[in-house]
Amino acid sequence: MIGHITSSQEAIALEEQYGAHNYHPLPVVLSKGEGVFLWDVEGQKYYDFLSAYSAVNQGHCHPRILDALMEQAKKLTLTSRAFHNDVLGSYEKFITELFGYDKVLPMNTGVEGGETAIKLCRKWAYTIKKIPENQAKIIFVDGNFWGRTLAAISSSTDPQSRRGFGPYMPGYELIPYNDLSALEKALEDPHVAGFMVEPIQGEAGVMVPYSGYLKQAYALCKQKNVLFIADEVQTGIARTGRLFACQHEDFRPDILILGKALSGGVMPVSAVLADDEVMLCIHPGEHGSTFGGNPLACAVAMAALQVVEDEKLSERAEKLGRIFRQRMQQLVDKSQLVSLVRGKGLLNAIVINDTEDSSTAWDICLQLKENGLLAKPTHGNIIRFAPPLVISEEQLYECCDIIERTITEFKKV
Ligand SMILES: Cc1ncc(COP(=O)(O)O)c(C=O)c1O
Repeated sequence: MIGHITSSQEAIALEEQYGAHNYHPLPVVLSKGEGVFLWDVEGQKYYDFLSAYSAVNQGHCHPRILDALMEQAKKLTLTSRAFHNDVLGSYEKFITELFGYDKVLPMNTGVEGGETAIKLCRKWAYTIKKIPENQAKIIFVDGNFWGRTLAAISSSTDPQSRRGFGPYMPGYELIPYNDLSALEKALEDPHVAGFMVEPIQGEAGVMVPYSGYLKQAYALCKQKNVLFIADEVQTGIARTGRLFACQHEDFRPDILILGKALSGGVMPVSAVLADDEVMLCIHPGEHGSTFGGNPLACAVAMAALQVVEDEKLSERAEKLGRIFRQRMQQLVDKSQLVSLVRGKGLLNAIVINDTEDSSTAWDICLQLKENGLLAKPTHGNIIRFAPPLVISEEQLYECCDIIERTITEFKKV
């Protein structure tokens, strides 16, 4: 068979030689996934505690999502939006009713969702809010992450994401996260059109704002006629114990961005949801994507969302998340190595008691791998734990045991 890989070493060597070096993966080569488990090419089995950055909330290769994929793939995969297809409308009705918005704009990747939201916000600002042309500003918070395009890295405060790629997109303003008075001050500028924020900052290290921050931020935005844009690409689709994380604070953002688990990790599917006042500011020819809204993606996304509902994954994430943090707190209390656990639902992280530039968190992840659990540091000394939401309580306990044993036995080099 062409390209058949027989060992991890061989696969890693090929990537090293022929692929761009824009990632630094853990040295494990995966060839199979099912539910919460992954297997490497040597047949070693692991618990997945990353879920492809929360894209696989429904578990690997969920049979219902795969059935939808295969059934649709045999009929029609792509028409482009030059023509209508017979799945898009049903999907649009399904997702808007589920999330409670007038309309959806379908895209593919998370970062395209972010770009789309910003374009919508700017268009609304010029059309409805009457901000003078080219003057609209979007407020972001320090530590934000929404992808790798030039527009996305222009708002980044992470030098690694940003350095060497300028010039950057104008019209952005940065304020500290979790700081309402900074937001209030920034909102005094009448040219502010939108405030874009992750309800929990995933890539920054699972940073959870204080309770009430998001809802009050939303209220401040409303006072100033500014759109609240929630980037729920990572926190959405049941990950934090609600269908989307803003529901923890009982409000509905003006623009909601979804991605990742919208397809259960089967293919890139993202979506931007908004009401007519915002969405109808975009007209034919002003935005789009060849693959956005393709029938295959629509069929997959409907199945993926239906699984979330039928298997009550939000409720599961909420319940199991509490258990997980309780167990990790016990570890924090007795270990010198772990200083903190934080998170919501099944999006959690532990902070390793070492400097950000140390290799301790990485070395712990290598050891976790040896003990049958895959996780990865987010920033130097933070390890994110985000298993598929289909994990059972027994499996979660077993994983807590693995983490506890690994940390307790870990020796710094
Ligand atoms: C909050 C958030 N927004 C946007 C993105 C970008 O998604 P994608 O990598 O699919 O473009 C990510 C990816 O990690 C994310 O965590």
